[in-house]
Amino acid sequence: MRAPCRTEARWPHIQGVRVVCREVGTIMRRMEPIRGERVTLRPIAELDRAPLKAIRDEPEVVRWWGAQTEAWPGDDDTVEEWVIEHEGEVIGSLQFCEETDEDYRHADVDILLTTRTHSQGLGTDAMRTITRHLIETRGHHRITLTCSPENARAIRAYEKAGFRRVGVTRLSERGTDGTWHDELIMELVVEPG
Ligand SMILES: CC(C)(COP(=O)(O)OP(=O)(O)OC[C@H]1O[C@@H](n2cnc3c(N)ncnc32)[C@H](O)[C@@H]1OP(=O)(O)O)[C@@H](O)C(=O)NCCC(=O)NCCS
Repeated sequence: MRAPCRTEARWPHIQGVRVVCREVGTIMRRMEPIRGERVTLRPIAELDRAPLKAIRDEPEVVRWWGAQTEAWPGDDDTVEEWVIEHEGEVIGSLQFCEETDEDYRHADVDILLTTRTHSQGLGTDAMRTITRHLIETRGHHRITLTCSPENARAIRAYEKAGFRRVGVTRLSERGTDGTWHDELIMELVVEPG
């Protein structure tokens, strides 16, 4: 899946179990775990690679994300990737990029969960948790995402998390089968005041 932010995220990619800080102007921000109702989000550590790669290879994940690269997670330095944990276990990951042009400020998110956990409300919780973080901590007022119009479970989860359908772009993504597919753009906007 792509992350349609205009400028490259400036943040170094997160790997390893060290304490990670990011420079934001003159502010150093430590990346603490973010707790949702049922899931916890935290930066990816080296130990997460094997379980995440196994999840990423599941047919129901490949169906919507395409095949993974050897270097995934960590093959795209324009996105920040976080592990999703439930009851102490890695159940998936999400990623986001942040538009750094202040006149177009927004964040764009994407998510995957292991198949055995689908349709239990955990994706909705993870999306609510990351959007709250992006809005309350990182100061975004607009969060976007792109998904297949045929991915009914994902669309339902996104709508439960507060996203609305913006529209469908025609034949805008080429699938692994080499054919072009439509994409649904969704957004969650915090109105001023
Ligand atoms: C998309 C994804 C993150 C959603 O997380 P999830 O935990 O499965 O979603 P939730 O349980 O929070 O919500 C799913 C909702 O869709 C419903 N649903 C499930 N299958 C459905 C279908 N075929 N049609 C319509 N609704 C469906 C569920 O019943 C639930 O709604 P409800 O709570 O009102 O009953 C997860 O399924 C996933 O990782 N899928 C594979 C990868 C993927 O598609 N990523 C997104 C790419 S855009």
